[in-house]
Amino acid sequence: MHTTSTPKPLSSLRSAPLKGKVRVPGDKSISHRALIFGALATGTTRITGLLEAEDVINTARAVVALGAMAEKQGDAWVVKGRSVGGLSAPAQALDFGNSGTGTRLMMGVVAGHPMTVTMAGDASLSRRPMRRVLAPLIDMGLEILEPGKETLPLTLKGTSELIPIVYVLPVPSAQVKSAVLIAGLHAAGETTVVEHEPTRDHTERMLRHFGATVRTETKGADTHITVRGHAELTGKDVHVPGDPSSAAFLAAAALLVPGSDVTIEGVLINPTRVGLYMTLQEMGGDVTFLNEREEGGEPVADIRVRASRLKGVRVPAERAPSMIDEYPVLAAISAFAEGDTRMDGLAELKVKESDRLQATAAGLAANGATVRVEGDSLIVSGNGGLKGGGVVATHLDHRIAMAFLTAGLASEQPIVVDDSTMIATSFPEFRELMETLGAKYDEPAGR
Ligand code: S3P
Repeated sequence: MHTTSTPKPLSSLRSAPLKGKVRVPGDKSISHRALIFGALATGTTRITGLLEAEDVINTARAVVALGAMAEKQGDAWVVKGRSVGGLSAPAQALDFGNSGTGTRLMMGVVAGHPMTVTMAGDASLSRRPMRRVLAPLIDMGLEILEPGKETLPLTLKGTSELIPIVYVLPVPSAQVKSAVLIAGLHAAGETTVVEHEPTRDHTERMLRHFGATVRTETKGADTHITVRGHAELTGKDVHVPGDPSSAAFLAAAALLVPGSDVTIEGVLINPTRVGLYMTLQEMGGDVTFLNEREEGGEPVADIRVRASRLKGVRVPAERAPSMIDEYPVLAAISAFAEGDTRMDGLAELKVKESDRLQATAAGLAANGATVRVEGDSLIVSGNGGLKGGGVVATHLDHRIAMAFLTAGLASEQPIVVDDSTMIATSFPEFRELMETLGAKYDEPAGR
């Protein structure tokens, strides 16, 4: 079972101009999917650029526990799969640590196998809602051995006779969409997910790459995604591009620290993931996509960011799914802009690794910003800078930690986060990479 490590506070200090060209680690969403689809394929999958962070390593351990092989060989991760429906019951509970994505995608896998599996996670993951995934999977035939229970730990019983469904997503969630589509691979017939707002489409893209039949149709304002069941996936080569959600912290630091000029190479620019970069441009940020190209079925670019004077903007609710993980850092950036930045449609932020709406607002307020939450909206009144000097409660949330450690590089006083250990769940190289560019951090004495 997951053990929690001792919290490690960290502070960030006002830094000299950040300069350089760097790469960020592989995209987290694509990394989870590459391991899972590799395990469901026949033959060998070779993954380069896999994110080697705690969340993804937990998914690798889970696929091994389910009977696939997944190990690093030289520069690549090699997965030998067991085919759709060919995995076997693990000897122990699967521990997903902090990862909602690993857990929810794997629920779709378990649903399609006649086996009983216990899934568990850390304190943050054990508070997160699972009903959104379990409800459609139960319609397809999954059983929960603790009926009515909706949070981890949970014991689930799958079946080789899943029923295909048409499922209209009640929340804009790529994790829920993906869990249903993955279960649909095992069902007898076609399974359709209908989304009102487009969410990240890596599952659809990668399933096609592995040979599944996936149809995407636009019907009015909705998108219908249909997967053909009893699918046969074949092992493939996958290259994982740089994670735009990790690159966001480097981009933010370069915008905020005067005189900075940073290029982040090989970043995923899938349209379902670049809402933050679009918003930064609207705020007056000098953010350019260079050398746009396609790598392994996903669009990629080098992102150049130079320090800029920013103005407040309104970020529409429709944009939320394409930048859902970037609101904490955008809110921090907004404190340095001139005028109000209003971010609407943030209901989903409340059910991330922490209640990010509250955690972000509290962290900003503790550092002297004027901020308010109105329903599902966050309004930051920027006045060209941030005082700093406060301590931020991170609530086991890597992105809250990184957002405030970034803001502290440009604030008047250092910003302290109460715990930096969770950064390892998505971006273990965060501090080292930022330091390469010139960022300054310190372990606060006596904490
Ligand atoms: C993810 C989807 C998003 C995102 C998460 C990764 C994915 O979650 O916040 O970090 O890989 O599908 P939701 O689907 O719950 O919005």
